[in-house]
Amino acid sequence: MDVEITLRVDGREHRLVVDTRTTLLDALRERLEITSPKKGCDHGQCGACTVLLAGQRVLSCLALAVAHQGAEVVTADGLADGELHPMQRCFIAHDAFQCGYCTPGQIVSAVAMQREVEDGWPSVVSPDLDASEVVLDDDEIRERMSGNLCRCGAYANIVPAIGEAARK
Ligand code: FES
Ligand code: FES
Repeated sequence: MDVEITLRVDGREHRLVVDTRTTLLDALRERLEITSPKKGCDHGQCGACTVLLAGQRVLSCLALAVAHQGAEVVTADGLADGELHPMQRCFIAHDAFQCGYCTPGQIVSAVAMQREVEDGWPSVVSPDLDASEVVLDDDEIRERMSGNLCRCGAYANIVPAIGEAARK
């Protein structure tokens, strides 16, 4: 069954007709040719497809496009608004990617993760702390970014890149 939907992606509105089984990731990549979100596992395991939906990080391979009619979607490309987002600049400064396949998802996820901390979301690393006391140290970053995998093992640079962005 086909349905017409509207998606607002990185500030641009798109109308498209999708089969109701189409994932948001496939709608973005295959229909709209927006290839910033990557298809790694297609099973919710790697985080390469992470986008912001209404400001929160979502695995677009697990979301059905029809369930997000009218949604505001932001990809790693859309984070750059005239100039690079501070998180993007920190990834470059720390050389925090090798093949770069996971990088768009890592950056989108890190931006949302920072907001989650600011909003007081807990983690298993510091369960006894008041939300306002949480410091984004390496352990917190590793735990809160554990849904994003890097096949090249660039974590050694990803963690300090996110840490620097958090301190800014
Ligand atoms: Fe979505 Fe791997 S492609 S989590
Ligand atoms: Fe290669 Fe992350 S930089 S998978």
